[in-house]
Amino acid sequence: MANNYFDLSGKTALITGASSGLGVHFARVLAQEGAQVVLAARRVNKLEEIVAALRNDGFKADAIEMDVSCPDNVTVAFQQIQQQIGAIDILINNAGVASEPVSFLKVNEKNWNWHMETNLDGAWRVARAASLQMVAAEKPGCIINISSIYGLRTGAMKVAYNVSKAALVQLTKSMSIELCRKNIRVNALCPGWFKTDMNADYFDSESGKRYVQTIPMKRMGQLEDLTVPLLLLASEAGAYMTGATLSVDGGLNEAPV
Ligand SMILES: NC(=O)c1ccc[n+]([C@@H]2O[C@H](COP(=O)([O-])OP(=O)(O)OC[C@H]3O[C@@H](n4cnc5c(N)ncnc54)[C@H](OP(=O)(O)O)[C@@H]3O)[C@@H](O)[C@H]2O)c1
Repeated sequence: MANNYFDLSGKTALITGASSGLGVHFARVLAQEGAQVVLAARRVNKLEEIVAALRNDGFKADAIEMDVSCPDNVTVAFQQIQQQIGAIDILINNAGVASEPVSFLKVNEKNWNWHMETNLDGAWRVARAASLQMVAAEKPGCIINISSIYGLRTGAMKVAYNVSKAALVQLTKSMSIELCRKNIRVNALCPGWFKTDMNADYFDSESGKRYVQTIPMKRMGQLEDLTVPLLLLASEAGAYMTGATLSVDGGLNEAPV
């Protein structure tokens, strides 16, 4: 490429849900482009292992404990980031949960609230704290909400997850029109299926393997498939993008149900 559009030197990026799966990949991708990365999740021991590996490879990385479903915990984590590192420039709002499939008639309060408290309330809370920090620091900012193609179409027996991720798309759009006045871009990345702790058991099963054949590209995503889409939204390459939802799904969003 003629210009280094993806260069993130001098930027600080916070990645929630960085103790496993997509978040680990996102942290490394941003670090490779020069960002100082702050990895957040509840399992601090996992974070510390990942941070040690990043530092060992010469990257600037720190771990911070953050339960996105707990308001006080998020407040304290942002205070620590401000004091120890300074205001962030980029937020990858990635922490999320998904239960085993459950039919609508069997979804109970616990299942519903668990999805909402992390995938929606948690994402809103962290996005709000990050926006306030960026505005106070008078810094341009970038927020990427990790939704899902199930924020755009339905997945069977996933009502609470589907609704939480669809709301995250609307949160993205609503934030984007207000925050562009503050020089903060807000976009959503909507992955299709990528094998992580969240779904590995299913995709190792015969039923999961059959499901993969319904994906138009007839394969699951590889983490590397998310690299350039993430960097497009996180860097100056996407300077005129806000309020967008970017699907990376092998065509699944357009596949007949
Ligand atoms: N994998 C896919 O196919 C796929 C597809 C579409 C969208 N997504 C989305 O991508 C994101 C990452 O998922 P993944 O597949 O990488 O799953 P994963 O490996 O299970 O990772 C989920 C991450 O979220 C964190 N987390 C969960 N609850 C949290 C809480 N209350 N506070 C802070 N962190 C919390 C977990 O860390 P701790 O347990 O240590 O807190 C973990 O780091 C999720 O939002 C998911 O919905 C995934």
